[in-house]
Amino acid sequence: MRAFISGTGSFIPAGIRSNQDFATTEFYNEQKERIKVHTAEIIEKFQQITGIAARRYATDDLNASDMATQAAIAAIRDAAVDPETIDQMIVAHNFGDTHQHACQSEAVPSLASRVKGALRIRNPDCVAYDLLFGCPGWLQGLIQADAYIRVGLARKCLVIGTETLSRVIDPYDRDSMIYSDGAGAVVLEAQTAPAATNGILGAVSQSHTYGESQYISMGPSYRPSASNRQYLKMQGRKVYEFALRTVPAAMKACLDKNGIEINEIRKIFLHQANEKMDVAIIKAFYQLYGKQQIPDDILPMNIRELGNSSVATIPTLFDMVRKGRLPGHTLCPGDIVLFASVGAGMNINAVIYKLPN
Ligand SMILES: CC(C)(COP(=O)(O)OP(=O)(O)OC[C@H]1O[C@@H](n2cnc3c(N)ncnc32)[C@H](O)[C@@H]1OP(=O)(O)O)[C@@H](O)C(=O)NCCC(=O)NCCS
Repeated sequence: MRAFISGTGSFIPAGIRSNQDFATTEFYNEQKERIKVHTAEIIEKFQQITGIAARRYATDDLNASDMATQAAIAAIRDAAVDPETIDQMIVAHNFGDTHQHACQSEAVPSLASRVKGALRIRNPDCVAYDLLFGCPGWLQGLIQADAYIRVGLARKCLVIGTETLSRVIDPYDRDSMIYSDGAGAVVLEAQTAPAATNGILGAVSQSHTYGESQYISMGPSYRPSASNRQYLKMQGRKVYEFALRTVPAAMKACLDKNGIEINEIRKIFLHQANEKMDVAIIKAFYQLYGKQQIPDDILPMNIRELGNSSVATIPTLFDMVRKGRLPGHTLCPGDIVLFASVGAGMNINAVIYKLPN
């Protein structure tokens, strides 16, 4: 039994925060010293090393579960399924519902319960639960849903990724400019045709925790006088090196395990971590096959305008491309695409997917 994506949806918050909007910010370093370089120069350097020009922040009235609900409605509508027939609802996130200016986040009830309630689904056999797996959480949800479908325990699953990172980042840390808010969702369904050759072909997941678990973690603000509140922190260089060391190899393992050649791949939907790192990952991946050039249109990206919204980046990007909303990128029936992600944990994963004919 194979599973295929029958519908996609996303919610991109309306609030645009451009790099110039940080022009008056005072940035500090890990040692809590004011960075002496002029903020305009920091911003310019930031854009140069990440490719990010703008990001989206949710308006105060919206939480992660609200955005997830909007993305879910769009995916359900696109798949044209009756919500009451959904067997599993998996919501990937890392911070629950974090109200603007609140110092605690809420994950009871789970975001999946909140979304299911908001969708007014009555069926108790629709099991709703959350998944915490760093930025690769949404892709891990897809792998999990696929496993349930393969063994016959589910026929329709809704897999959502949602995050309001703007509410957990340290405004005095220049790395915070990477992060963004958003939600994306897909409906994954069992194939009705027996012995179908398309759908999810295979996957690889890894958790590297031995020396790496603290590469992305929570910590105090870099500003000396700030409160005890904890913020999302990363050891950027280590994350970068880790990703280059592990993700290309995992992507290749995913292809090898499933007998797919690199030339068969039409698109790679990579977690939009930062542009420079993503391009380096893809180059390293092709180099594993002795290829020095990457195909021009292999890597759709929306990070320049949308930033890094963690679990939401891949489903949002896939939704945009699938619906012809990302200039220069289209998908055709039967195309083989690769999804891959990296993030806190440190977790990585990859999925190989053949679009229905
Ligand atoms: C954080 C990151 C952007 C820093 O880039 P980097 O090239 O490793 O940075 P380095 O520490 O080597 O510093 C290079 C230069 O950039 C500057 N710099 C570093 N981080 C910066 C930031 N966030 N904004 C602006 N400038 C920055 C440094 O001051 C240095 O400047 P100099 O050349 O004038 O001395 C990069 O490490 C990265 O993208 N890491 C992965 C982060 C990620 O994807 N996280 C999410 C995972 S889900």
